[in-house]
Amino acid sequence: MENASIPQSPMNGGEGPYSYAKNSSFHRAVIEGNKELIQKVMANEFDPKTYDDPKKPICIADLGCSTGPNTFVAVQCIIETIEHQYKSQGLAAKIPEFQIFFNDIVSNDFNTLFQTLPPNRNYFVAGVPGSFRGRIFPRESLHFINSSSTLNWLSKVPTEITDRTSSSWNKGRIHVKNAPKEVIDAYATQYKMDFEDFLHARAEELVSGGLMALLIPAAADLVLDSDIDADKIFELLGSCLLDMAKEGLVSEEKVDSFNLPIYHSPVKHIMAILERNECFSIEQVRTMNGFEAFTYPNVHAVVSMVRAISEGFLERQFGGGIIDELFLRFTKKVVEYPANLFLQNMKVQVYRSVLLKRKTHS
Ligand SMILES: C[S@@+](CC[C@H](N)C(=O)[O-])C[C@H]1O[C@@H](n2cnc3c(N)ncnc32)[C@H](O)[C@@H]1O
Repeated sequence: MENASIPQSPMNGGEGPYSYAKNSSFHRAVIEGNKELIQKVMANEFDPKTYDDPKKPICIADLGCSTGPNTFVAVQCIIETIEHQYKSQGLAAKIPEFQIFFNDIVSNDFNTLFQTLPPNRNYFVAGVPGSFRGRIFPRESLHFINSSSTLNWLSKVPTEITDRTSSSWNKGRIHVKNAPKEVIDAYATQYKMDFEDFLHARAEELVSGGLMALLIPAAADLVLDSDIDADKIFELLGSCLLDMAKEGLVSEEKVDSFNLPIYHSPVKHIMAILERNECFSIEQVRTMNGFEAFTYPNVHAVVSMVRAISEGFLERQFGGGIIDELFLRFTKKVVEYPANLFLQNMKVQVYRSVLLKRKTHS
């Protein structure tokens, strides 16, 4: 059923010092910060009396779940909110069972996910491997979809930015930060295609009236080159690779053809894509600031987070031999620019929290 191209690399698996599981407290803080919105919207949108068949489970999917534990926090919040709706109407005895689907790309470390499932969970579990850019569930089979910190990952690096003969060639950078307009446009076009594919597939999979909560890492609409934003950190990482190329430790050609498939779209572009879509109504939308209080405790924490999310991509391009040296150099650069440690300095990076409702299927 899957028809979309897969992203190249998962987050670091396992529970070791550079694993996603141990280095994603920032992503978890964003999920925690969104709980209130989910509770508020569900109070208006989910009426137990209209749930069609209480003998059937409520089916919930978390898309791009990674290895845990953040996905468990998100899922628990949704379940507790639904349960609260039943209890507040005196219908506690009628709470249905819950079926949770954990989705990520096939190379995700699902073993760690399953081994660390909350032992006292009150839901049934299934893993769904495959790219969420295409269909991964049967038609009208889901009641609620959640996806946090995922839609900024492109399905692929835009082809033209690695083409030496193209005006969009992204020479000397591994990301879009401070890149020429042609490079930014190539990223934006890929983002739009990917997001539309995502919405198209979800529109098929959600039941009429089904809800979808998206937490989308985004950029403010106006970003200056001098601004400290989430992308500044990738610029620093890229500069370490360039230094290593100058010293002959990695090939310059490989640095020039390497780009991270991460894009923080301006909020207004995200809203334009959502508003054009005819299958969903936008129930709630807000700019998240739950992470403003979040501060990395030290340089090591921010470096390990970047390593947890990017090591797979780097290893594929340059081999595992350079990774320790690269992150040693990167650590030194982060120490030189300590502003990167404090997310409240990142005035231009925002999270767009969106709650969508599937319109009635025709
Ligand atoms: C930064 S992690 C977020 C994990 C988790 N949702 C959280 O909030 O902690 C992004 C996840 O999205 C997954 N992802 C990216 N593109 C995907 C795709 N096309 N299909 C499924 N998962 C994808 C990645 O593999 C990764 O596990």
